Amino acid sequence: MNIELLRKSFIETFGRDAASERIFFAPGRVCLIGEHIDYNGGLVVPAAISLGIYAVARTNKSKTLHIKSTLDNKEFVFNITKEITFNVANNWINYPLGVAKYFIQKGHVIDGCEILFTSTLPVGSGLSSSAAIEVLTSFILSQLNNIEISLQELALIAKEVENNFVGVQCGIMDQFAVALGKKNNAIKLNCTTLEHEFLPLHLNEYNLVIFNTNKKRELAESAFNTRVKECNEALHAIQQYENVSCLANASLEAIEKYIKDNVLYKRAYHVVSENLRVAKAAKVLKQHNIEAFGKLLFESHDSLKNNYEVSGKELDTFIDFAKQHSSCLGAKMTGAGFGGCAVAIIKSNTTEDFTTKALAYYKKETGRNGEIYIAEISDGVKTIIL
Ligand code: GLA
Repeated sequence: MNIELLRKSFIETFGRDAASERIFFAPGRVCLIGEHIDYNGGLVVPAAISLGIYAVARTNKSKTLHIKSTLDNKEFVFNITKEITFNVANNWINYPLGVAKYFIQKGHVIDGCEILFTSTLPVGSGLSSSAAIEVLTSFILSQLNNIEISLQELALIAKEVENNFVGVQCGIMDQFAVALGKKNNAIKLNCTTLEHEFLPLHLNEYNLVIFNTNKKRELAESAFNTRVKECNEALHAIQQYENVSCLANASLEAIEKYIKDNVLYKRAYHVVSENLRVAKAAKVLKQHNIEAFGKLLFESHDSLKNNYEVSGKELDTFIDFAKQHSSCLGAKMTGAGFGGCAVAIIKSNTTEDFTTKALAYYKKETGRNGEIYIAEISDGVKTIIL
């Protein structure tokens, strides 16, 4: 990212001012394992990545927010003393607006500000561009207004925006990883207690490859909320007989015994078995056993495809290819699914062969052009230039 160019374009857009502008960054994330587990209260292992959203920002003396992105030409101006409401037509602007609304609702006093966003993160592709812009805006508002607030609290505000303003019933994984990510570490997070542990990711002779199917996640939000509903129903069915706090903590015996509906059973089976897989995955990762970790990724994908039914032709095409390429240790879809991205662990010395062949195979099978990024595991949200 050319930071100086970004700063220049901020000045061209908003002019010079006595208050100097500051530059901030929030990463995207990959979920390595523990997919669709966060809102079921279990364990997940995400990691923040070096692709992300950058922003130049400064306060102004007014109560207006001026927001612009280098990726489109519209400038949005909002008076923060007026009621802030969700508006589909506002598109991505809803995210920063929702954050401003929740900051104010929580009693934080904020001034107006000018923000210019830009991104290296493909939008709507399952790498958490929405969590990135939400956490980034929370961070900017706290920094510009000298509000002392922990990164965890910023993540919780961002989740509240997604749940109650945008209307997606997601869990805490994305916002947590974006806020608290650590370079060269994955995070093992308990989504009920928010207890977490950093797991050093020594990939050494491997690369973490992200494959973007370039299939937009159409209808993903409604399908996502349907999965949340199904899981709640499955939990309710078990709770008629057993005291269990969340679906991820149910036993395989309990779901077998108490869930009569076949679809609900499959959803619950994914959740319970994936949660067990995450515990195993964290263990083998600590032993630096990347081969065993990779196998669990393949198992995770199979369950997401067959039990949770959130994959799709595009993601499966890539995973099928990855399974038969000798340099791939493991691969799975990442994020909500229904298109978007997959992650794969590939031997570094054959990465080029893998990526070239993967793209060609994907094009032949789906008619689409995929994209590949070699991911670096990065820090969470931060100030780049004070
Ligand atoms: C989306 C949601 C997350 C999580 C994943 C699936 O990214 O925002 O909370 O549920 O899907 O693991």
